[in-house]
Amino acid sequence: MAGNKFCLTTPAYYVNDVLHIGHAYCTIAADIIARFRRFAGDDVLFITATDEHGQKIEDAAKSAGIEPIALADRIVAHDKKVWERLNISYDDFIRTTEERHVRTVESVFNALYEKGDIYKGMYEGMYCTPCESFCVESQVKDNKCPDCARELERIKEESYFFKLSKYREKLLKHYEENPDFMKPHSRKAEMINIVEGGLKDLSVSRTAVKWGIPVPFDKKHVIYVWFDALINYISAAGYGNDDKKFSGFWPAELHLIGKEIYKFHVIIWPAMLFAMGLELPRTVFGHGWWTVDGEKMSKSKGNVVDPVKMADDYGVDVFRYFLFREVPFGVDGDFSEKALVVRYNTELANDLGNLLNRTLTMLEKYFEGKVPQPGDSKDEFRDMMEKSGARTVEYYNKYEISSALSEIMKSVGNANRYIESSAPWKLAKENREKLKEVLYDLIEAIRIITLLLAPFMPQTAEKIWEQLGLESKISGMTIRDISWGGLKPGTKVNKGLPLFPKDK
Ligand code: ME8
Ligand code: MG
Repeated sequence: MAGNKFCLTTPAYYVNDVLHIGHAYCTIAADIIARFRRFAGDDVLFITATDEHGQKIEDAAKSAGIEPIALADRIVAHDKKVWERLNISYDDFIRTTEERHVRTVESVFNALYEKGDIYKGMYEGMYCTPCESFCVESQVKDNKCPDCARELERIKEESYFFKLSKYREKLLKHYEENPDFMKPHSRKAEMINIVEGGLKDLSVSRTAVKWGIPVPFDKKHVIYVWFDALINYISAAGYGNDDKKFSGFWPAELHLIGKEIYKFHVIIWPAMLFAMGLELPRTVFGHGWWTVDGEKMSKSKGNVVDPVKMADDYGVDVFRYFLFREVPFGVDGDFSEKALVVRYNTELANDLGNLLNRTLTMLEKYFEGKVPQPGDSKDEFRDMMEKSGARTVEYYNKYEISSALSEIMKSVGNANRYIESSAPWKLAKENREKLKEVLYDLIEAIRIITLLLAPFMPQTAEKIWEQLGLESKISGMTIRDISWGGLKPGTKVNKGLPLFPKDK
C-alpha cells in the first residue's frame, strides 16, 4: 500500500558560485529527513533546485566571459557531483531555466495579472543585487543594504507589482491557526511583527535585467528572480505539468531553508500561494548559519569550506554526523575542523566504533560468533532502549534532528555503560544464562541504533549491518523493524574492520 505522500524541498541555490558547507548543511538536513520519512513508510518527493536567473547570475557570467546559461550549466554539473558525493537522495533536481518551470511561472504571472493581484506601476527605490532584493528605505543607512551591508543601487522604472498588502490579515490568521507553520518557533515573533507593521506591494518585474523569464504579455520586463525562483517548489511538484502528481504531493510538508531567506518563505511565498488559491506548505523550517573558526565565510577571506574536501578528508558520514551533532538544528554554529576531529575520536571511534567492536568480540569469544537466546523477561536495559528509540522517532517527526542524533548517542552511551556494569567477562565464569541475556541485549540494541542512525550515516549503517551478519538489506527495513526482538538467535555475526580507525 502506498504510504502518506511527503514532499520536502531545499532552497533553489544560486549558480553564481560553487556550493560550500552552508549549502551542504541544508541539503544534508533535507536528505536526513527524506531518508527517515521513507523509512517511516512515506512516499517521498525530495526536491532540490538551482536558481539561475537575475542580475547576480548575469553579472557572474559576464565576469567569467561566458553566457549565463553556460555558467549555469557548468555550476549545475558541479553541484550534481557534490550531491552525489554527499549521498543526497533527492528525487528531483529542478533548474529554473527548465521548460517545465518557465511555463509554470508564465502561467502564474498571467493568472495573477488577470485576477488583478498583479498590476502595472512605477517603482522607485533601493535595490541590493547580491540579495536580489529591494530594501525598505527607512532601514537604509549610507546607501548600504540593511541585510548584507553592501552598496545599493537606486532604481526608478516602470514595474509590475504583486498585491502583497492585500494578504496581511490572511497571513496573520494563518500564523495564528497553524502554530507549526513557522519553525523553529523562535523565528515567529519577528515575522509576525513585520506583517503586523504592514506590507507594501512587491515589485515583481525589472526592465534593467535581461537574464530572466520575460513577462508573457510585456516582453521588455523580466520577472523578478524571487517571484520566479519560489515557484520552483510547485513546478517540481507538478503544478501545470502533472496534475495527478501535484494533487498527491502538494501542499509540501516542509520547506527547509536558511534563516536569511525566511521572510521570502513565510511572507511573500504564502501570499503568492493565497493569490493562486493553493494550499500553503505545512512547515517552513529556517535553520541557522555557520561561521568558520568564528568568522563569516567569504571568498575574499579565503575561508570558504568545501564540503567535498571534508568528505574526502574525514568520510562523508563523519561530515554529515558532525554538522548535526555540533550545533542544535535551528541555531547558528561555528565550524571547526579541530572540533570535528575531537568528535571523531571520542564519539565515533571510542563510543560507537568500540561498542560494535567489543560486542562482536565477546560474541566470538563466548558464543562462536552466534547471537544467543534472549532472556524471558524485559529488563531495565531493554526498557531504557525502547523509550530512547521512541523519543528518537518523535524528534525526527518534529524535524528536531540534532535532538534525534543526541538521543541516539545517549543510547550508545547507555549500551557502553551496560557492558561495564554487567561485566560479561565475569558472567562468562559465573552465570552463562545471564551472559546470554546481556549479549543478546547488546547486539539487539546495536541493531536498533543502526536503523535509527542510518538517515544520518547511511554508509556506516550499511557497514554495521553487514557486521551484524543480517541477511536482509538495511535499505529494505521499515520503522516496524525497530521493535525489540528482531534479531534472530543463531545469526552468525561477521566482525569486520573498525568503523572509525584512529588515525585522524
Ligand atoms: O538564497 N550557513 O540561494 P543561495 C548555513 N537562490 N547555511 C547557509 C550558509 C551558511 N553560512 N550559506 C548558505 C538563495 N547557506 C536563493 C534561494 S529559494 C526559492 C531561492 C544555505 O545559493 C542556506 O540554506 O544563496 C541558505 O538559505 C541557502 O544556502 C542560500 O543559498
Ligand atoms: Mg545567499
